[in-house]
Amino acid sequence: MAFISFPFSLFLLIVLSLSSQLANSANNTQNFHYFCDQDNDRGNYTDNSIYHTNLKTLLSTLTSNTQINYGFYNFSNGENTNKVYAIGLCRGDVKNQTECLSCLKGSSNNLTQLCPNRKEAIGWYEDEKCMLRYSNRSIFRLMEIGPAYYASNPNISTDLIVFNETVRNLLDDLTKRASSGDSRLKYAADSARGPNDQTIYGLVQCTPDLSEADCNSCLVQSVERIPIDCCKDKIGGRVVRPSCNMRFETSFRFYDPTATPPPPPSTTNNTSSPPPEPGKSKATTIIAIVISIVAIMVLILICIYLRARKPSKRFTIQEEDEDDEIEISESLQFKLDTIRDATNDFSDDNKLGQGGFGTVYRGTLPNGQEIGVKRLSKDSGQGDLEFKNEVLLVAKLQHRNLVRLLGFCIEGRERLLVYEYVHNKSLDYFIFDETKRVCLNWESRYKIIAGIARGILYLHEDSRLRIIHRDLKASNILLDEEMNPKIADFGMARLFAVDQTQENTNRIVGTYGYMAPEYVMHGQFSVKSDVFSFGVLILEIISGHKNSGIRRGDTNEYLLSFIWRNWRDGSPTNIIDPTIINDSVNEVLRCIHIGLLCVQENAASRPTMASVVLMLNSHSLGLSRPSEPAFYIDSGAVDFQDLMVVQSSEHNSVQVSVNKVSITEPYPR
Ligand SMILES: *[C@@H]1O[C@H](CO)[C@@H](O)[C@H](O)[C@H]1NC(C)=O
Ligand SMILES: *[C@@H]1O[C@H](CO)[C@@H](O)[C@H](O)[C@H]1NC(C)=O
Ligand SMILES: *[C@@H]1O[C@H](CO)[C@@H](O)[C@H](O)[C@H]1NC(C)=O
Ligand SMILES: *[C@@H]1O[C@H](CO)[C@@H](O)[C@H](O)[C@H]1NC(C)=O
Ligand SMILES: *[C@@H]1O[C@H](CO)[C@@H](O)[C@H](O)[C@H]1NC(C)=O
Ligand SMILES: *[C@@H]1O[C@H](CO)[C@@H](O)[C@H](O)[C@H]1NC(C)=O
Ligand SMILES: *[C@@H]1O[C@H](CO)[C@@H](O)[C@H](O)[C@H]1NC(C)=O
Ligand SMILES: *[C@@H]1O[C@H](CO)[C@@H](O)[C@H](O)[C@H]1NC(C)=O
Ligand SMILES: *[C@@H]1O[C@H](CO)[C@@H](O)[C@H](O)[C@H]1NC(C)=O
Ligand SMILES: *[C@@H]1O[C@H](CO)[C@@H](O)[C@H](O)[C@H]1NC(C)=O
Repeated sequence: MAFISFPFSLFLLIVLSLSSQLANSANNTQNFHYFCDQDNDRGNYTDNSIYHTNLKTLLSTLTSNTQINYGFYNFSNGENTNKVYAIGLCRGDVKNQTECLSCLKGSSNNLTQLCPNRKEAIGWYEDEKCMLRYSNRSIFRLMEIGPAYYASNPNISTDLIVFNETVRNLLDDLTKRASSGDSRLKYAADSARGPNDQTIYGLVQCTPDLSEADCNSCLVQSVERIPIDCCKDKIGGRVVRPSCNMRFETSFRFYDPTATPPPPPSTTNNTSSPPPEPGKSKATTIIAIVISIVAIMVLILICIYLRARKPSKRFTIQEEDEDDEIEISESLQFKLDTIRDATNDFSDDNKLGQGGFGTVYRGTLPNGQEIGVKRLSKDSGQGDLEFKNEVLLVAKLQHRNLVRLLGFCIEGRERLLVYEYVHNKSLDYFIFDETKRVCLNWESRYKIIAGIARGILYLHEDSRLRIIHRDLKASNILLDEEMNPKIADFGMARLFAVDQTQENTNRIVGTYGYMAPEYVMHGQFSVKSDVFSFGVLILEIISGHKNSGIRRGDTNEYLLSFIWRNWRDGSPTNIIDPTIINDSVNEVLRCIHIGLLCVQENAASRPTMASVVLMLNSHSLGLSRPSEPAFYIDSGAVDFQDLMVVQSSEHNSVQVSVNKVSITEPYPR
């Protein structure tokens, strides 16, 4: 096979790796990338223990299985604490069973040798031709994006704009095709014509046990890394994760195109048929062909039908041309009656809270989908059309760490925003409550910090619009069932006609205590003012104290002062919420350090969100010394009543005109 002899692996650079459960960097030996469970979360087994025997049996069963012919092996072996789970996955184009199994066998030998006695390990062999992982926890149907490794071809592409557009379109398309695959194969590979008549090849694959949504999400998060830390402007790159992998190359076909993946989603819904028995595969092929032909004909008919109708209701979020925008607007627009029914006529029972721009209600649509409805109370200062246009733009922002805007409703004076419903309450409900914050151990707090960072990074850099949130605070971070953070209320500045393009505004949107000094004082905002708010959030999450401060008797020390004082005086452990003090102290201290870098007085010294995400992902990256934060008062304790007066409420954003306020010096210098 061409791709094996090609000395491509020599060019691989391990750029960065994300980590959650396992090690921080993939080791690479003889074209085998692997992560042992370096943090040893899952522990070791002893030689010849039951676990060891179970693992050996499991791996040899897995690598000698001849029943399965679709390249995905999910087996477990043993009971209770000695139960071992393993997943083997061959790349979608490796159709030869012998070849697939020998790759897995090699991985199995290498992995057990390179990660001796580890209960959990993962490895990829020969340019991801196969992946093998095992653990003592159930790893089936679990979407995991870490540990991951990124690699890039060092050569820079020409004609960057056309190039990355082509790559993006190709990979987006492949992501859709692979996600809609069945429970035996979620794989797609194809090529596209790039600049200078070059051919760009792409391949994506998920473990097929994932749901369509999880597969899609894993791949989207991989494609997202391209312009950030994988392979910006490079002619080739890959992002390899436990649950999915993605790769693209220029003028180098690294996969076997004859191994055709299943056709793109057809209109029949019988996609997940049971694995074919060996003798029946001919018949299955014929059936598959017949189904494909029927499916293609149906698709053609649908296309003809849709073309014949002028105002099509179909829409693609990605498309930018005008027709599609109009179509989107039709489908995102809700009827007021629908929302009234869903929220029981905005009943108080359904009231979830009062936000900066209106009241939020919980609702259930007729199809059972739960929604959050924000009933805007303030005049947005925009006409219907402008408002609608802005909603459409904001609805395009989709990221797992952003609360998704599903649509809107404008009828009469009523303006409503419809959001996905996020199950748990907001972050402030947990971290500032003595009893509830025990639910959040360091691991979940770290996950929350990292998630918020990714969400903001997306707003700042990855989305098509450059969005500055301007009102990041604990009550704007919602938590889903798994305590994943989702940022709410982004794009409000757009929806409320606050000029986003000016570096300067006379209308301040934000919450005191989270607002950067240059924003409070001069109305100057930038991505760095969001970074400031994010820094305050990190410090609140770690300390469990509100930014307004720590009250002792009659005095109240502002949080940033308290933290800086303890940090400077070498007693940083005083800062840490006692309920997490026993957890990974070094990681906590590193996060305090990152938080302090974000709240520095001088906006230019604060890191960008891209660097913050890097710092959070890579523990080895050195951090610079933070300078004194804004709002630091050396005397230690100061009454913050003055600031409190303007900080109208924890849950309410303030909107004031700089010209009117005399709060320009409420914080001492
Ligand atoms: C794997 O990498 C770690 C550091 O990333 C290193 O300490 C270890 O020695 C490496 N192991 C092998 C087998 O190369
Ligand atoms: C597990 O084994 C590794 C190497 O075999 C060793 O370095 C490590 O300390 C062990 N961990 C535990 C918790 O026993
Ligand atoms: C699969 O590969 C093996 C060696 O890699 C080869 O001997 C065998 O003929 C191949 N089988 C098929 C069906 O191509
Ligand atoms: C990995 O497996 C290959 C093939 O089985 C073998 O040649 C190589 O020596 C192994 N590497 C290690 C480190 O065990
Ligand atoms: C896996 O093993 C580790 C260490 O022995 C243990 O702490 C953990 O609970 C085990 N996980 C499961 C799911 O049994
Ligand atoms: C990268 O560019 C160099 C110089 O143009 C060329 O020799 C080399 O083959 C290129 N590498 C790849 C992988 O395309
Ligand atoms: C193993 O994978 C197959 C195919 O995706 C699936 O049908 C089966 O339920 C999985 N088994 C387990 C134990 O998850
Ligand atoms: C496309 O290229 C431009 C110019 O280098 C870069 O700014 C942008 O981030 C790239 N986008 C993607 C998706 O790679
Ligand atoms: C789906 O499969 C069932 C039997 O497995 C068959 O009766 C039914 O007609 C199929 N439906 C479609 C839409 O192909
Ligand atoms: C498959 O299609 C039939 C009829 O079109 C529908 O009743 C059934 O719910 C569908 N099943 C699934 C799993 O979507």
